[in-house]
Amino acid sequence: MVSARAAQVLVASNRGPISYALDADGTLTSRRGGGGLVSGLSAIGSEANTLWVCSALGDGDREAVRRGVGEEGVRMLDIDAGTHADAYNGIANSVLWFVHHMLYQTPLEPVFDAEFRRQWGAYETYNRAFAQALAEEAADGASVVVQDYHLALVPGMLRELRPDLRIGHFSHTPWAPPEYFRMLPDDVAEQLLRGMLGADRLGFLTRRWADAFARCCVDVLGGTGSTRIGVYGLGADAEFLRRRAHEPDVDERLATLREQIGPGRKAIVRVDRTELSKNIVRGLLAYGQLLTDRPEWRGRVVHVAFAYPSRQDLAVYREYTAEVSRVASAINSTYGTGDWTPVLLHVEDDFARSLAAYRLADVALVNPIRDGMNLVAKEVPVVSEEGCVLVLSREAGAYEELREDAVGVNPYDVVGTAAALHEALSMSAGERGERTKRLAAAATALPPRQWFLEQLNALREA
Ligand code: G6P
Repeated sequence: MVSARAAQVLVASNRGPISYALDADGTLTSRRGGGGLVSGLSAIGSEANTLWVCSALGDGDREAVRRGVGEEGVRMLDIDAGTHADAYNGIANSVLWFVHHMLYQTPLEPVFDAEFRRQWGAYETYNRAFAQALAEEAADGASVVVQDYHLALVPGMLRELRPDLRIGHFSHTPWAPPEYFRMLPDDVAEQLLRGMLGADRLGFLTRRWADAFARCCVDVLGGTGSTRIGVYGLGADAEFLRRRAHEPDVDERLATLREQIGPGRKAIVRVDRTELSKNIVRGLLAYGQLLTDRPEWRGRVVHVAFAYPSRQDLAVYREYTAEVSRVASAINSTYGTGDWTPVLLHVEDDFARSLAAYRLADVALVNPIRDGMNLVAKEVPVVSEEGCVLVLSREAGAYEELREDAVGVNPYDVVGTAAALHEALSMSAGERGERTKRLAAAATALPPRQWFLEQLNALREA
């Protein structure tokens, strides 16, 4: 680890690039973290004088901190487990994520009660712990890039501790329009915006989210002050993906998947965290609708759906996970035959198998109700072997860049999505190939390393 006040470039995020599992016999094993943010930032590598500050997330991570086990260039903060749970599950994932993805069922939610206020206190404590650690580690005039809604208060807090630093903040989520954002209690809304405006520069994935943020600032605070706002559309890492997708473990899974799908059948692929905003249930319903409306596809197509567990501490995520399985089983029992299983649902996280599915996909279904970017939409065209039609929600950030060559859908419209799936399955191989080439070019326009460096350079010029 770099010594105190020596880091020139610092990244701060809740989930870090690495996590530890504690085995029954007391050994610690490390693995790479997942999610859009970590995939984006991991290409940065461990350059000299760069420090990544993140949370210790489970028993394994906490034990690693206690034993002083770690990776060069990464500092894990062992924040009190209760405080972290209130900040992460309570505020970040149950409030801020819900606001920005507009997930509340508003007749009954949200209710900002005393329990919310208690959790908000934990969120402040957790943000302060990050600000303090960054203040300790940063060299004079260093650049600090804070990531995401978990750490919205950090820029303002850090600015007070270390006015010499150049501070940036990047949002990997959508940003809610003011009329939705203002459901938050006024003082909380103000604190969040002021916290972020403590940065010299703010980054968003698309113009749409950046504009929504600016409108919230105008409505709540009267303006954005001197903070500059930029748009950086994180792209796929083509070099990494193409290499990784042809390693032996991926080849092996490709063979298994081909066997499970069966010869001559088309594959509609989806790969997601089992996340409320990903709209997996409506995706399955749309596939069921396709089999109803277009019986000619029965027996000739398989929906390969990978839905990896996420945020299982939250009851609504557990319920959603169960609903995904229930709907998939219902389709299989309605339409399945002795030699055809219409939906192949896999829930155990396996990156190599995801890549294998990208390689063979005829159609990729990416239909979130709202998504900051959605990297799956950008990864599939890069890895696809025979060309793949992208059925893409117009509410995904990626739609701004990929709309020309994707088949766009309204994610709430199940009948419309079924029609889009039919259109995608029926597209000629020639057109599919041409579109995939153009999609891959657009998807890789700003690869992760460049995405990060552009922000860093902008910050240094600030
Ligand atoms: C989104 C967020 C990331 C987060 C990821 C996984 O992509 O923007 O910050 O890392 O989801 O979520 P998790 O709660 O598992 O860290």
